Amino acid sequence: MTDHATLSAPAFSSAGAVRQTVAIDLGERSYEILIGQGLLDDVQSWSGLPRAAAALVVTNTTVGPLYAARLVAALRPHHAAVHVVELPDGEAHKDWPTLNRIFDALLGHGADRKTVIYALGGGVVGDMAGFAAASYMRGVPFVQVATTLLAQVDSSVGGKTAINHPLGKNMIGAFYQPRRVVCDLDVLATLPPRELSAGLAEVIKYGPIADMEFLGWIEDNIDALVARDPSALAHAVRRSCEIKAWVVGQDERESGLRAVLNFGHTFGHAIEAGLGYGQWLHGEGVGCGMVLAARLSERLGLVDGEFVERLAVLIRRAGLPVRAPRLDANDNAGRWLELMRVDKKSEAGEIRFVVIDGPGRAAVRSAPDALVRAVIDENTVAA
Ligand code: NAD
Ligand code: GLY
Repeated sequence: MTDHATLSAPAFSSAGAVRQTVAIDLGERSYEILIGQGLLDDVQSWSGLPRAAAALVVTNTTVGPLYAARLVAALRPHHAAVHVVELPDGEAHKDWPTLNRIFDALLGHGADRKTVIYALGGGVVGDMAGFAAASYMRGVPFVQVATTLLAQVDSSVGGKTAINHPLGKNMIGAFYQPRRVVCDLDVLATLPPRELSAGLAEVIKYGPIADMEFLGWIEDNIDALVARDPSALAHAVRRSCEIKAWVVGQDERESGLRAVLNFGHTFGHAIEAGLGYGQWLHGEGVGCGMVLAARLSERLGLVDGEFVERLAVLIRRAGLPVRAPRLDANDNAGRWLELMRVDKKSEAGEIRFVVIDGPGRAAVRSAPDALVRAVIDENTVAA
C-alpha cells in the first residue's frame, strides 16, 4: 500500500463580515468566490466579468422559476441579450441528451465565442453547464451561480465538470475553471431539508481530511446549520471554500493531493450508481460513504473506533444516512467492489480509497479486497 497524497490545511481563521471573498489562485485562471446575502440581485456581483453581447443562463425546471428572472434582470446591464435554458431537474438527467439541450440553446441563439454561460443551480446544473462551456466552440467563459449548499461548498469551485455514464459517475467531462463563483446565501432558504443535509455532508468532509478545528466547530454548530442560521451557513461556506481553494490551488488537475476531496466518494458513488442515479442524493452517498471509508481507515489501523464513532454521530445529526444499502441480494460485497472499480482513482483495476490517516489528515490507498468486503458486510442493510 502506498501513500499518494497527504493534506494538512492552512490555519483556521475566524468568521468575518456578511459578505466575503475567497480567492482561488490558479495563475491566469484565478478567480474569486463571492459569499454573502443579497448577491443575486446586486449588479455589482456581475461586474468585471468578460464582456459579451449575449449570455445564456443554464438552469433547471425547479430553480429557474424561483430565481432566473432575478438573475436575468441583474445581468441586463452587462449583456444586450440574456437567454435562459431550463433543463429537466435531477441527477438522472446529467447525461448526453440533456447536455445537448444546452448546445441546442447556444446554437439556436447564435451564441459566439464570447457568449458567457451562467450556471444557475446546484451541482448537476453546474457540472453540465461547465462541461458545455468547456466544449462549445472549444471553450466559452462561464460563471457558477451556486444555489445549493453542496454547490456553494464544493461543486461550483475548482473546475471539475462532467456528465454521468450508465456505467460510472462523472466519467465524461473536463477540467474547466469558471470566471467567478457567486454564493448567495439567501437562496438556501428554499432548499428542501434533504438537500441541505446533502450539502452538509460535503461541509463535514473538510474536517476529517484537513481541519479538526473546523470539525469541532461543525459539531458545536450542527443544529444552527440544520436550522439555516445565516451566520453559521456563512462561516461553513467560507471555511469550506478556503480549504477547497487551498487544495485546488496546489493540485488543479488531481495529480495527487486533490484526490483527498473525494473522501467518502468511492463508496458513495457505488451507492448512487448501484441504486440508480437519483435514488440517493450525491451528498447522502458521500455522508454514508465517509462512515464506510472511516471504518476502512480503522481496519487499516489508521484511526481508532472513537474517531469513527464521532464522525458517524455528526453525520447522523446532519440528517444523513450512516448505514449503506445492500446492492445485490446474492453477492452484495462483490457488486460493491465491481461498482467501485469504475472510479477515476482506480489504477489497473485496483480500487484506491481516500482514508483518514490520523485526525485531520487524508491519504489515498489501496486495501485488500477481504478488508473492504468486511467493511461492506458490517455496514450494509437491506434497502
Ligand atoms: P442538484 O444540482 O441536483 O440540486 C439538488 C436539488 O435542489 C435539485 O432538485 C435542484 O433543482 C434543487 N435546488 C437547487 N437549488 C435550489 C434552491 N435554491 N431552492 C430550491 N431547490 C433548489 O444536486 P447538488 O447536491 O447541488 O449537486 C450534486 C451534483 O454535484 C452531483 O451530480 C455531483 O456529482 C456533483 N458534484 C460535483 C463536484 C465538482 O467538483 N464538480 C463536487 C461535488 C458534487
Ligand atoms: N469534489 C471533489 C473535487 O472537486 O475534487
